[in-house]
Amino acid sequence: MEKPNFTIKGNICHTTPDGALSLHPDSYLVCENGVCTGVFPQLPDWAPQTVIDYGDLLVIPGLNDLHIHAPQFTFRGLGMDRELMQWLETYTFPEEAKYKALEYADEAYTIFADHMRRSATTRACVFATIHRPATELLMQKMEETGLVTYVGKVNMDQMSPQYLIEDTAQSERDTIDWLEATIDRFARTKPIITPRFIPTCSSQLLAALGRIAADYNIPVQSHLSENREEIAIVSKLEPDAASYGHAYDKYGLLGGNSPCVMAHCVHSSDIELELIRKRGVFIAHSPESNLNVSSGIAPIARYLDMGLNVGLATDVAGGSSECMFKAMAHAIQSSHMYWRLIDDSWPQLTFADVFHMATRISGAFFGKVGAFDPGYAFDALVIDDSNLLTPKPLTLTERLERLPYLATPQHIVAKYINATPLF
Ligand code: GUN
Ligand code: FE
Repeated sequence: MEKPNFTIKGNICHTTPDGALSLHPDSYLVCENGVCTGVFPQLPDWAPQTVIDYGDLLVIPGLNDLHIHAPQFTFRGLGMDRELMQWLETYTFPEEAKYKALEYADEAYTIFADHMRRSATTRACVFATIHRPATELLMQKMEETGLVTYVGKVNMDQMSPQYLIEDTAQSERDTIDWLEATIDRFARTKPIITPRFIPTCSSQLLAALGRIAADYNIPVQSHLSENREEIAIVSKLEPDAASYGHAYDKYGLLGGNSPCVMAHCVHSSDIELELIRKRGVFIAHSPESNLNVSSGIAPIARYLDMGLNVGLATDVAGGSSECMFKAMAHAIQSSHMYWRLIDDSWPQLTFADVFHMATRISGAFFGKVGAFDPGYAFDALVIDDSNLLTPKPLTLTERLERLPYLATPQHIVAKYINATPLF
């Protein structure tokens, strides 16, 4: 297939590798053979002369959501009155059980996929449910959106209600069959190993999933150190592990061989953080979810200072919205409260920090993604902020700074993934 060559003109904004804003007003973003060649103040004579002129609009890299639950989209904004374990029992597990029926899954996943297509998200790590047919249906629907995603069939064989539990051997077999069926089926949608979290997976199942991840060279996603009650359960289940993270690591499920993304890490100990760093694990910071299910506030400024890969995520339906702009705002706001109420020795997060997290850091989970550097995937959003009225002339920095608080999907006038426009 012919790879696209074109040039985009507009206000091109991304971040440098160390997280500073890199702003290029009225500049040219060149795409050759489907990837970025770079940003230039004038149109280079060697560049594709087909210029799509976006005038005064903003052009930013696509936003990458490192953690979202597709089946939970049905109850977004509902059931925010429990903390994690009670929330799972009361709202989440009964809803996820419904995906045994493909008709329900079809209806629900169509709505989810439509919202994701229109959203600011270009790439995502997605949880499905334990059900193989519904997971494959979700993969088909995500493929049709044009987004690039990892989608995981969830594994749970203990501490789960009878209506949402797998037999250990069946869970392992289903996972292998699902991998075999989907590993090469789609261009943009790939499987990811998804133990729900340690409490719902027996050590036998965790060991099997670690072997499968290694055998098939598949990435892993799960939850880590989100809630104190959860952590206490894990320390009972895995008394010899030095931390919750060490329990995953024992089974080969914490990076090392294949990429790994862990949601939350709100209450990670120093020893757990050291292992996260050593294994190159991505942390999916989900600030709204952490507020809604009363998990706490993760010390993200500290994690960034440690050089950890801290990306950003919505964690629907712990988070109420698939909107990554909102996740950016929540990350800034949570950091203010961390600074005010918990520890003021770490700085509050800035717009540049959360923009960097949502683009370049989260993007790195998918490869050369999340910036407009030469050789990076051409993922971009074109944003028309002209209806966000103010009589005051705004600088380019100010226009960007408003996006987490004011931008909605309606402000996105074009979305490119791997150089293909979705709209
Ligand atoms: N831990 C285990 N399952 C879940 C889930 O569905 N959402 C969140 N936020 N945490 C979890
Ligand atoms: Fe989650």
